[in-house]
Amino acid sequence: RRVAILISGGGSNMAALIASMTGDHPARPCLVLSNVPDAGGLRRAAEAGVPVATVDHRAHRGDRPAFEAALHRELVAAGAEIVCLAGFMRVLTPGFVGLWEGRMLNIHPSLLPKYPGLDTHARALAAGDAEHGCTVHEVTADLDAGPVLGQARLAIRGEDTPDTLAARVLPLEHRLYPAVLRRFAAGDRRPVLIEAGASLSNP
Ligand code: GRF
Repeated sequence: RRVAILISGGGSNMAALIASMTGDHPARPCLVLSNVPDAGGLRRAAEAGVPVATVDHRAHRGDRPAFEAALHRELVAAGAEIVCLAGFMRVLTPGFVGLWEGRMLNIHPSLLPKYPGLDTHARALAAGDAEHGCTVHEVTADLDAGPVLGQARLAIRGEDTPDTLAARVLPLEHRLYPAVLRRFAAGDRRPVLIEAGASLSNP
């Protein structure tokens, strides 16, 4: 299966996904597409030998349909069959989502349905939650609300700040997203559940 990855920034999740698609993995990366022309992830993708493209959302300011039509054109030209949003920071309209529904995934840094949207780590801390983590879900028209394909969770520590929490969640994302993509690309819809640091042997 041919996988396109959409990014807006450093692309650490993109890098983890690309690194996972080797050997008997049923998928291979066919494109890394960014809405930010100088996104750090574009260089990482090029170094990994993956074709890259950019569609600058600022070049389509005020014309979201034109921006999304350009995204769609790049994805079709690359022969993408699955789209992975990875740190992609633009909200996609129902029009675009409809073209890829059932074939588009996103990773979100919270245990959805808790905390859709932004500032998830600060909100989990403010709520006094005992646990936090990340979710991979199918993208639907409702923001951060599609069917859950996997979750990874960890215990919040008393001394955690939004930054320390984000730093502990990100490595979980890098484990969760590749595991979910491997199953998704093989047509396996069983959810992936990861419990970080569950056993005493790995604190
Ligand atoms: C991370 O905070 C991640 O939770 C979210 O986007 C941010 C950047 O991810 N998905 P990446 O390093 O660009 O993959």
